[in-house]
Amino acid sequence: MTTPDTTADDVVAGLTLEQKAALASGATVWRTEAVPGVPSILVTDGPHGLRLQQGAADHLGLGASQPATCFPPAVALGSSFDPDLVERVGAALGAEAQSLGVQVLLGPGINIKRSLLCGRNFEYLSEDPLVSGVLGAAMVRGVQSQGVGTSLKHFAANNQEADRFRVSADVDERPLREIYLRAFERVVRDAAPWTVMCSYNRINGLHASRNPWLLSEVLRDEWGFDGVVVSDWGAVVDRVDSAVAGLDLEMPGNQGRSDAELVAAVRAGTLDEGVLDLMATRLVALALRATEAARPDTTYDVDVHHALAREAAAASVVLLQNAPYDGTPLLPLRPGASVAVVGELARTPRFQGAGSSQVEPTRVDDALTSLRAATGEVGFAPGYRLDGEPDADLVTAATEAAAAAEVVILFLGLPAGQESEGFDRDHLELPADQLALLDAVLEANPRVVVVLSNGGVVRLSGLADRVPAIVEGWLLGQAGGAAVADVLVGAINPSGRLAETIPVRLLDSPAALDFPGEHGHVRYGEGLHVGYRWYDARELDVSFPFGHGLSYTTFDWADAKVSSDDTGLTVTVTLTNTGTRAGAEVVQVYAARPGSAVVRAPRELVGFGKVHLEPGESRELTVPVRREDLAYWDVRLTRWVVEPGPYDVHVAASSRNVRATVSVDLAGDEIVVPLHAQSTIAEVVERPAAAAVLAERLGFADGLLSDPVALRAMGTLPIGRLGAFSLGLTAADVDAIVAAGAQ
Ligand code: GLC
Repeated sequence: MTTPDTTADDVVAGLTLEQKAALASGATVWRTEAVPGVPSILVTDGPHGLRLQQGAADHLGLGASQPATCFPPAVALGSSFDPDLVERVGAALGAEAQSLGVQVLLGPGINIKRSLLCGRNFEYLSEDPLVSGVLGAAMVRGVQSQGVGTSLKHFAANNQEADRFRVSADVDERPLREIYLRAFERVVRDAAPWTVMCSYNRINGLHASRNPWLLSEVLRDEWGFDGVVVSDWGAVVDRVDSAVAGLDLEMPGNQGRSDAELVAAVRAGTLDEGVLDLMATRLVALALRATEAARPDTTYDVDVHHALAREAAAASVVLLQNAPYDGTPLLPLRPGASVAVVGELARTPRFQGAGSSQVEPTRVDDALTSLRAATGEVGFAPGYRLDGEPDADLVTAATEAAAAAEVVILFLGLPAGQESEGFDRDHLELPADQLALLDAVLEANPRVVVVLSNGGVVRLSGLADRVPAIVEGWLLGQAGGAAVADVLVGAINPSGRLAETIPVRLLDSPAALDFPGEHGHVRYGEGLHVGYRWYDARELDVSFPFGHGLSYTTFDWADAKVSSDDTGLTVTVTLTNTGTRAGAEVVQVYAARPGSAVVRAPRELVGFGKVHLEPGESRELTVPVRREDLAYWDVRLTRWVVEPGPYDVHVAASSRNVRATVSVDLAGDEIVVPLHAQSTIAEVVERPAAAAVLAERLGFADGLLSDPVALRAMGTLPIGRLGAFSLGLTAADVDAIVAAGAQ
């Protein structure tokens, strides 16, 4: 019998080998195993709404689930750049989980959007690790504030759906650390998720589920994670291997098959029972913690949560373009303007992606009904069929409606079948019939506002120069239709910013030549240069840059300042709302290290803050930048290093709209790479004490060391190889040089 002060160790001490093994895999698709003193707990998806299945269970969102609030998926929340808002959404999700008796919510998903084609990009936050880490941590804090655990996923480098159970993400060490693991590290350190979900794929040849470097050395030993590592559903390849690697819980349950393997391995001496004890202790601690925190009598107000979903959606809408037409921007809609709404997506909204994240919403707002409620009668023409079958009559009716109106609101987007968990996209194009409709509508009336509904980026280069206004609505959750209407009529001033770049064409994108890989391998050939890092390094034009988003008001930026101390940087800037509407601006801080000794992106986001201002209001915004966010991963030292020297700090409204730059000099870390036999003459010469020993031991050193051309020509020679050239360096000499370098 457990009491509140029963410890997991106490409980495990009383368990048999079989009972400990039973804990290590699920009892069912969604439940963990119960053993004496250890209650079963219920887990379920996630991430942007509860998907609790009562009947036939599946991990792909095929079976029915209980109604729950479908909040904006991560693709939208990522565009909010608002950690406080994301945390509030997390708290609402936690309350709904409590009310349904769910103890762990399977999310957030924070994988980096490496390729624009990834079918699950709708479920992830950004192409940038800082945005993913800050907003991922906010979500975890929010959910866990309600006494419900989270499962940070998918750990790690799960950046495509193609061949996801087998493909090896072949990633160099620096991009792995600086891009693909970095957001996970931030969330683990900042928000302590109760669980981390390992991914299906391999990383540099080894499955995440059996990867001791990933699951133990990095996650636990380096980052201090002390929770439970759970497999993605069906991700375990070898249960004993995965136990040794640090995977505690295999899901779903498999009727005791894995348990028996663990018991047999312990009995055979191929698995140390201590490993199983450690797993059991973590699993018992999770079960006790979850049970202690369970509040099954929790209730929540469905309308209040729906209103929060609407607020979050509106804050995530990105106003990409709002060019004046006849001298006046088309948005916000002029009160009394005659408006034609065109596009089936206005009436039948697509508000979430397909797969395990699919939620049964408590209600759905469509934009058409919401616009009518806000502005009175608006014309409507579906314009196209959601199945993509061309329909000339629909186009004709739509062009007639467009011709008769002052402004056309044209809803375009990706059909559900083009992006989902389980497969990737083949291109970035909007459906051909929708593009044909766009042409016809523009012909009839050039005053067009395009509203997009898509989980992944679509190509806009053929559209942006013909349409005055474009609103990127992503997938906005069940209240998205009302949120879009709020933005279109001006009830809400848009404040979303792009958390991923919209390139001119797919071929310009970083992963274009290395996706989705072949024969079980996908090479991350772009290295560090993911997202805006790539387009900036290649100096490529883009349709809309990372961090971009417009407002219905204007802001003045002034007095940007930067100070530094041993915690990092403090950036301040004064913003003034110089327009006539309240609005929010997102101040982005990018750091650049000119002349860096290592390869780096031209600039990297190191901090951001969102500020809401009334018309005429001024406020000084402070954006703290953590020292570690200025660091690069030094593969020689296998640790983070802040390079000494000058940094340019860009205070910006987007990655391509820098409002002020301030330079600051940082002392940084002393970088002392230990010398060894493979150190080159050039590396030795940089170290005076070692250079002196080299000069003394190497007969012709005087000539070499004082002749820059000779030194450059021979500088790449490892000192341990000089003996091969009868240059008179013995092993003892090499040792003496190395020892001198260590002084
Ligand atoms: C799925 C997904 C994962 C989800 C799990 C349970 O395959 O990859 O995100 O949480 O299985 O449905």
